[in-house]
Amino acid sequence: MLDQIIHSKSEPGHIWPSESLTRVPYWIFQDRDTYVAEQKLIFQGPSWNYLCLSVELKNTGDFITTFVGDTSVIVARDSDGELYAFENRCAHRGALIALEQRGNTKDFSCVYHAWTYDRQGNLRGVAFKDGIKGKGGMPASFCMEEHNPRKLRLAEAFGIVFGSFSNDVPPLEEHLGEEIYSRIGRVMNGRTPVVLGRFTQALPNNWKLYMENVKDSYHASILHLFFTTFELNRLSQTGGIIVDPSGGHHISFSAIEPDAAKDNEYAEQDIRSDSEFKLADPSLLQSFKEFPDNVTLQILSVFPTFVLQQIQNAIAVRQVVPRGTGRTDLHWTLLGFAEDTPEQRLVRLKQANLVGPAGYISMEDGCVGGFVQRGIAGASGEQAVIEMGGADTDSSESRVTEASVRGFWKAYRARMGM
Ligand code: FES
Ligand SMILES: [Fe+2]
Repeated sequence: MLDQIIHSKSEPGHIWPSESLTRVPYWIFQDRDTYVAEQKLIFQGPSWNYLCLSVELKNTGDFITTFVGDTSVIVARDSDGELYAFENRCAHRGALIALEQRGNTKDFSCVYHAWTYDRQGNLRGVAFKDGIKGKGGMPASFCMEEHNPRKLRLAEAFGIVFGSFSNDVPPLEEHLGEEIYSRIGRVMNGRTPVVLGRFTQALPNNWKLYMENVKDSYHASILHLFFTTFELNRLSQTGGIIVDPSGGHHISFSAIEPDAAKDNEYAEQDIRSDSEFKLADPSLLQSFKEFPDNVTLQILSVFPTFVLQQIQNAIAVRQVVPRGTGRTDLHWTLLGFAEDTPEQRLVRLKQANLVGPAGYISMEDGCVGGFVQRGIAGASGEQAVIEMGGADTDSSESRVTEASVRGFWKAYRARMGM
């Protein structure tokens, strides 16, 4: 409540502090008007937003509810085999049309006054439209076709479904660019994804703090002691970051070189580190070679809020859902593939322990955004310093850089007109 009061008014004069991307003002994570503008200009603007996996909606009538920004959206498969997406908001008085997270249905009926919609999001029925015994009902001038919930454009990349409220956003493949598109393809690799599990994690911070964290290759091996201790990710490893020209999409990757590993004293000791820590069950980190390259870690983000993760054989999509200035939901969908052997499936399930709210690697990311949100509470006029690796947003072989964080702010400012 207090949080709402504090953030219900924006301070006057909120402008980006300079032309540089190396300073980020803290009010950007606190200001209610900025949050409202983001919904319109970013999420409902010319973006492709992650919605779901195509495989989650295999059969006619399958549907899920998902989000674009904080807007609830229904995606459904109709009898023509196509997917359709529309706002989960009844045209009558605004109630959610679908309350379940997923299901199978012939049509949708709002619980409030039973207005009904088909699977393409068209209003098909209004209860007691003509009144009863000639009395009451809707006026003759009421036209159902004029009252559909807003519909989204849909596009798919390698079985991953994106949606947009905008007619101005270029086709998905063009929007992502060759490098990002092909690196999504690298992970999905023509296979049929299987959902192994889901987590939803409540983050006590603004959504942009999580996106900064995802793009921050600098923190990964420092904040996440598990990474460093068990040598999954050290900044000395071969790797790099790729930032697309818009700045908004990125890839961070690293490789454990198989030859180097042979000489490596840690590997000989069941992936033991030079600290006293040792895994009671080292099979947690036994992985199988899944890709022709030696890349063992690839974190890929698509502006504004989609993440595709490959950490060893732990593959997941993450959807970041803003829930107000200081709250975010993070939805994880862990993936295997229909082509997996039972042994491979077991490896993936074990490695699923690395991620999610209590993951050996990712639990710190669930806290650190909250540490920032609390740290900046009384400092809306101050700024973050983002100078690691210089001031640009260029791709680089070094991961000791904040170039992809600056890239996020470059894309953000362009969208927000800041
Ligand atoms: S709000 Fe949906 S039918 Fe009235
Ligand atoms: Fe992290």
